Amino acid sequence: MPELVGIGVGPGDPDLLTVKAVKAIQNADVIMCPASKEDRPSIALSVVDSIIDKSKSQEIIKLIFPMTKDKEILVAHWKENSKIMAEQVLSGKNVVYLTVGDPYLYSTWIYMHREISQNHPNMKISVIPGIVSMFTFASKVGISIAEGAEKVSIIPSCYDLSSVKEIAKNSEVLVFLKDGRYFDQVIELLKESGFPDNSIFAIGQDLGTENEIIRKLTLGEVNDGTLTTKYFSILVVKRV
Ligand SMILES: C[S@@+](CC[C@H](N)C(=O)[O-])C[C@H]1O[C@@H](n2cnc3c(N)ncnc32)[C@H](O)[C@@H]1O
Repeated sequence: MPELVGIGVGPGDPDLLTVKAVKAIQNADVIMCPASKEDRPSIALSVVDSIIDKSKSQEIIKLIFPMTKDKEILVAHWKENSKIMAEQVLSGKNVVYLTVGDPYLYSTWIYMHREISQNHPNMKISVIPGIVSMFTFASKVGISIAEGAEKVSIIPSCYDLSSVKEIAKNSEVLVFLKDGRYFDQVIELLKESGFPDNSIFAIGQDLGTENEIIRKLTLGEVNDGTLTTKYFSILVVKRV
């Protein structure tokens, strides 16, 4: 029976692909991947480039998910892309869909899976987890995401940040994802919230790529606008 598999390709380094992901990608008839525009590369696809056997006739289909917060535009693309995906499986092909990190953390896979399982309840669908970017970052920078009784909050920075101060009061560790270009506002809010100046402040950008940047300082030491320029950025702020 043909199958659809959502695959987490990890944070960028092909050595961090799981064995299961490599096998599924190499055995697929069709490899699908997200991109923000037609003329932009798919980051998820670039992660697996070295493990794809180019002599095999695997079809590669790029699906466009525009970077917008307009719900109407987003929903239209989810519906259209999930239709394209489902049609490939219904035609008898084994299809994999690649996504950065893990498929169940802020990933387009979530919408694909929801649409397709609603419209095609009998379709065989499975998921292969991937290494989450924030855990890769924790390993690189040598900090724990949580220990003992610590509470962790994960916050997407590109949306309404009005609750950050309240969350900061009730968490020992804050992980900010989704767009480092908003981190200036985040830093200001954390300082206003009274989060201690001696807290660990660690930022990782473009992890697993040749442009990777990792910085570890304290919240009190941060006064540097150059830290906050990249979409692919993770910020971990932790009480000591
Ligand atoms: C749409 S979310 C996808 C998260 C992904 N599913 C995961 O498990 O990590 C994209 C955000 O994840 C973080 N991210 C993912 N990969 C990254 C990387 N290689 N370097 C830095 N940040 C990364 C950034 O915060 C980025 O804005």
